[in-house]
Amino acid sequence: MSDLWRYDGKRVVVTGCASGMGQAAAKELIELGATVVGLDIAEPTVAVKEFHRLDLSDPDSIDTVAAAIGGPVHALFNIAGISSGAAPPLKVVEVNFLGTRRLTEALLPFMEAGGSIAAVSSLAAAAYGANIPTVQDFLAASDFAAGRAWCEAHPDELVGGGYGFAKQAIIVYTMMSGVALGARGIRINCIGPTVTDTPFLADTIKTYGEGFIDAFPKPLGRVSQPEEQARVLIFLNSDAASYVTGQVLWTDGGFMGGVATGLIKTG
Ligand SMILES: NC(=O)c1ccc[n+]([C@@H]2O[C@H](COP(=O)([O-])OP(=O)(O)OC[C@H]3O[C@@H](n4cnc5c(N)ncnc54)[C@H](O)[C@@H]3O)[C@@H](O)[C@H]2O)c1
Repeated sequence: MSDLWRYDGKRVVVTGCASGMGQAAAKELIELGATVVGLDIAEPTVAVKEFHRLDLSDPDSIDTVAAAIGGPVHALFNIAGISSGAAPPLKVVEVNFLGTRRLTEALLPFMEAGGSIAAVSSLAAAAYGANIPTVQDFLAASDFAAGRAWCEAHPDELVGGGYGFAKQAIIVYTMMSGVALGARGIRINCIGPTVTDTPFLADTIKTYGEGFIDAFPKPLGRVSQPEEQARVLIFLNSDAASYVTGQVLWTDGGFMGGVATGLIKTG
């Protein structure tokens, strides 16, 4: 049983390995026996086996890196992302969804049955259920340039910075791909973290103000640490989760349960 949680003999790709959740995941995966291929726009400090500099807002960079990685890829961790305070809305959608999808689809040919993908959405996408038809219309723009053009034609969907929309797209893409990749024996899931103590928060504070983190409801009485998010991604991509696919798992310290039952009031 315990071997199911380990990654011995597995070659895994981790985006965002230079900081926060991605760095925590890379560290823990090395301890679990994985051969880690790290990707990031910034240089990592974790001693990954291979590092490729990647800009998820640049399709050429993604294609070059995917070809350099080659196979086999046993698991993909799509963790890199930027806050809406970090860039204009279109770039936020490029990094957080369009580039992430392009990388995923460029690496899929190197994955076989038993392979798995785990991505990071956000509590900012909690209302995704009411927006599925619109997000599906966006997803039908099936490559990077078409997705970009869709965003330019639908600026209202990116109001608020594009972050929530991109993270909704991660969830709906995960759910649809759970079906589409099932026949190949490849699983795909995502997590929906709450506020997590990483450098990302500096840009979140720029958008929502200084008081945001203190005011945010925290049933566990504290924000999350990046390792606590990374471990759930590692579980989802492990053989221990072999029947879990097409899911969003809210790693939110109880927030969504509180909202669903009326114990936490939002807005
Ligand atoms: N920290 C939070 O409160 C929080 C909450 C919910 C979701 N998230 C999501 O968690 C994920 C990880 O974020 P984090 O909190 O660890 O932040 P972080 O800033 O610590 O790490 C993000 C990493 O992504 C990399 N990156 C940024 N732009 C890139 C690009 N164009 N191409 C390639 N790499 C790029 C950065 O260099 C960095 O290493 C993100 O997808 C973020 O949206 C974070």
